[in-house]
Amino acid sequence: METKKIVVGISGASGVVYGIRTLEALSGMDGVETHLVVTKAAERTLSLETDRDIDGLRKLADFWYDVEDIGASVASGSFHRDGMVVAPCSMKTLSALAHSYSDNLLIRAGDVTLKERKPLLLVVRETPIHLGHIRNMLQVTEMGALVVPASPGFYHRPKSIDDLVNSIVGRVLDLLGLKHTLTSPWVEGARSYHESEA
Ligand SMILES: Cc1cc2nc3c(=O)[nH]c(=O)nc-3n(C[C@H](O)[C@H](O)[C@H](O)COP(=O)(O)O)c2cc1C
Repeated sequence: METKKIVVGISGASGVVYGIRTLEALSGMDGVETHLVVTKAAERTLSLETDRDIDGLRKLADFWYDVEDIGASVASGSFHRDGMVVAPCSMKTLSALAHSYSDNLLIRAGDVTLKERKPLLLVVRETPIHLGHIRNMLQVTEMGALVVPASPGFYHRPKSIDDLVNSIVGRVLDLLGLKHTLTSPWVEGARSYHESEA
């Protein structure tokens, strides 16, 4: 089985736990290799929102890179990647991606993911949003990225914050075509005469 290489970017929007859960889920999968880039602002939200430190976060990944190391492998199209997730994605990183303003490794890796026509998933987090944010989301969508708002569903009757986080990360993994057990698909209304198919 060929190893799937997934780049995970964590930027400084609230909800660093989305990035952590993404790494945890990917690290438990056979045949998946993770490549992590964390921004300086995300290091700040990490310490504000969790009890982890940056070393603990990096240990969840197979490989990690310094966000200032603009020459690291993930900055190049010759580094084959199967996709990239930015979770959470700040409005600043969204804006930079919308304009190919690649002044750090996370943004450059995202820009390269787009130019190589590989899936780029942006778990954006801000509220409320202004027209500039909306325009940037339109722009990245036109460029081929998938905007995945950090906006969990409630139809599975979540009982914990974990359930809410899993509902978003589960969608991210679905979109990457990776099998997972974080959530189960919604099957309401499906009928079959063959019980096993219901
Ligand atoms: C506690 C905290 C929460 C923040 N939450 C958000 C947020 O939800 N969305 C956002 O776009 N920026 C948020 N920010 C601001 C970003 O961290 C800031 O714009 C930063 O420059 C983003 O840089 P980066 O995209 O390189 O990580 C927050 C900052 C802090 C300290």
